[in-house]
Amino acid sequence: MKRLAVFTSGGDAPGMNACIRAVVRGAVYHGVEVFGIRRGYNGMINGDIFPMTSHSVSNIVQRGGTILKSARSKEFMTPEGRKKAHDQLLKHGIEGLVAIGGNGTFTGALKFFEEYQIPTVGAPGTIDNDLYGTDYTIGFDTAVNTALEAIDKIRDTADSHDRIFFIEVMGRDSGYIAIQSGIAGGAEMVMVPEVLTPISEVVETLKQGWSRSKSSSIIVVAEGDEEGNAAEVAEKIRTQVGVDVDMRVTTLGHIQRGGIPTAYDRILASRLGLGALEGLLNGEKNVMAGVVNNELLYTPFIDTIKLPKPINEDLLRMVRILSV
Ligand code: F6P
Repeated sequence: MKRLAVFTSGGDAPGMNACIRAVVRGAVYHGVEVFGIRRGYNGMINGDIFPMTSHSVSNIVQRGGTILKSARSKEFMTPEGRKKAHDQLLKHGIEGLVAIGGNGTFTGALKFFEEYQIPTVGAPGTIDNDLYGTDYTIGFDTAVNTALEAIDKIRDTADSHDRIFFIEVMGRDSGYIAIQSGIAGGAEMVMVPEVLTPISEVVETLKQGWSRSKSSSIIVVAEGDEEGNAAEVAEKIRTQVGVDVDMRVTTLGHIQRGGIPTAYDRILASRLGLGALEGLLNGEKNVMAGVVNNELLYTPFIDTIKLPKPINEDLLRMVRILSV
């Protein structure tokens, strides 16, 4: 392979820049030409493709967001869109791709290979940590720490006012951010999409806390929880506990996606970026580079897409025990 391209796609995640840097510098080291594609598959379709050098990635290891920008491309889901993307890759002489993103990104890459045989190796970039084939995804650690900082601050005011706070963290289908930030922040309860926590159970926990003179509580709710988002959960609880109970809802939202990546994320991103690049050069295709038990390994896209990455339910049990 003489020329490859790197792009970021889907929701951005802190550490994506460190990953791009590793891909580009790795390619330079191995004497392979490397191009960048802006705005994910949209840029591939529109020919927003440019040569990168070692210098292009100077001074980015510490920056959040992605210098290549990102998008969720609707057009790439169509055969016409993929045809345009392929034409652009041919025009630029690109023989392989490193895709930094999540499930949607890898699903697109797999479809693209079936039609045009362009090999792709992925690096898991998403704050959700919901990809089978890696213990952690790029950006997850930073997102957890951002959420934790907010939870700590909210606890101060919750305690001062004897209030119950419902704090919504990201995770449409995944409770990883909720569990980790909830444990670290000493939450009374954590509600995640993977495990149903009935409203009655939340009410019971709150009542038990009141009987022990606990005056404030933090309940961390993943946005995709089965009982609803934090506002909906709070509303349901309000109907059971009455209007006198002082409750507030805080949705952390996209602050979890930005910011300076933690050391952990920078190191993980560097390993995975170089791992993806070297995998591609060694003939790997349609696989995602991951780190499992501190070992770099490649998992077929089909597995990362189809297989669930179960949460550790014992951690939820621990939250209950530690909040007595
Ligand atoms: O996949 C990452 C993520 O941040 C999810 O946690 C969240 O549900 C989603 O992206 C939000 O996407 P958007 O930025 O497109 O609203």
